[in-house]
Amino acid sequence: MKCFHYLKDKTRNRAQRSAPILKDETSFSISEDVSGQKKVIKSSGSANSPRGIVQLYEEKGGKLRVFKYAELKEATNDFTRLRKIGEGGFGCVYKGSIKKIDDDKGGDHVVVAIKKLNRDGFQGHKQWVAEVQFLGVVDHPNLVKLIGYCAVDGERGIQRLLVYEFMSNKSLEDHLFRNSYAPLQWQTRLQIMLGAAQGLAYLHEELEAQVIFRDFKTSNILLDADFNPKLSDFGLAREGPTEGNTHVSTAVMGTNGYAAPEYIDTGHLTAKSDVWSFGIVLYEILSGRRSLDRSRPKEDQKLLDWVRRHPIDSKKFGIIIDPRLEAQYSLTDARKIARLADSCLLKSAKDRPKMSQVVETLKQILQDSSEGSPSRKSFERVEDETEELTEKSKSTKVSESSKRRLDQLAKLSEHVGGFSKKGFMIMHRAKVS
Ligand SMILES: Nc1ncnc2c1ncn2[C@@H]1O[C@H](COP(=O)(O)OP(=O)(O)OP(=O)(O)O)[C@@H](O)[C@H]1O
Ligand SMILES: [Mg+2]
Repeated sequence: MKCFHYLKDKTRNRAQRSAPILKDETSFSISEDVSGQKKVIKSSGSANSPRGIVQLYEEKGGKLRVFKYAELKEATNDFTRLRKIGEGGFGCVYKGSIKKIDDDKGGDHVVVAIKKLNRDGFQGHKQWVAEVQFLGVVDHPNLVKLIGYCAVDGERGIQRLLVYEFMSNKSLEDHLFRNSYAPLQWQTRLQIMLGAAQGLAYLHEELEAQVIFRDFKTSNILLDADFNPKLSDFGLAREGPTEGNTHVSTAVMGTNGYAAPEYIDTGHLTAKSDVWSFGIVLYEILSGRRSLDRSRPKEDQKLLDWVRRHPIDSKKFGIIIDPRLEAQYSLTDARKIARLADSCLLKSAKDRPKMSQVVETLKQILQDSSEGSPSRKSFERVEDETEELTEKSKSTKVSESSKRRLDQLAKLSEHVGGFSKKGFMIMHRAKVS
């Protein structure tokens, strides 16, 4: 899904519109001299104020590697299409292999992802700088690691590249919405929710300078070999409001379907805008549906409109759960997560929880979930589903897919004792009607 760039002030002239309000944006740039030394020029904030990202970058950014263009060209076999693993608004992403520089381990190679800016211009450069600056400062297991970057201003134009740790399971978007990937298991989904929440909580609450991610969505949640989630794409990230301010004023940027309504209306950005986006992603993980899907009938295109027609406490709620999960999830946990999502999606931003509170709630859900036995969870689902089916069966036949699912459930139930018998019996009745 592509980013949108929406300027509320429609009275501004064309030149102003194409150059988003620079005085509101952090002013800095990173330059590289001939020896490959990088330095930050121009920083913001006074000596007495808390340190902002630029000052933090001066202290911590030195760990980033500066690559020569030729090195990355070689690493990707001249950016061959065969090495391309993705493409977004910034440019193409390639799989590559670079030499390690650990002094005493010389010679070994490491697999990386290399993102190459494919458009000239101010916005792309600005996003590249933001990515280097924020990722040069942050350090958390749920944020993707930036290994280094390359910046060349030559006769043939500018080259801007970023080199990341390679995430072998690609993005959450791929796994949720593409049928070529196996469905994500329920427990994996819960772990991903928790990890992503921890990444956001770190950005909002644990750094010296608050960071607002501004583009939280499934394609920016990458998954490592063990399906641990890591947030990527800091191109739109912003520093939170300084002391005494309630928000940051910005040109509205983000992705359709994820941005908080008050942010779209006013351009006032707060950490609670990210909390809204998190609520949307929770519903995407529960339902396996995109926040905005133009291929569906009009009334179902917006995920939120659709889930709101299936209230949490009603029998209809089960319908919103991703059918690819089959019976393998807990309806009780799903309801708890939907309630959490609803709190993130409250109209009034200040009523939404902080991400640290979201983390605590998710930890509790995970703990309760691991304490419950898998068989109990299956039957919890069976009972609910069969209530729906018995109602339906008064007038309609059970569909083929329901039959398949019920057969699967019947197999599962063979191992279970008496306490869930009611669900089991109803299931068989539904099956034969
Ligand atoms: N570090 C990485 N390791 C492995 N694959 C990656 C990595 N970074 C990106 N990718 C792949 O490249 C794809 C494109 O990523 P990119 O961030 O450029 O675009 P996007 O998130 O799809 O869209 P947008 O430009 O709106 O953020 C990702 O969905 C993912 O599959
Ligand atoms: Mg992305």
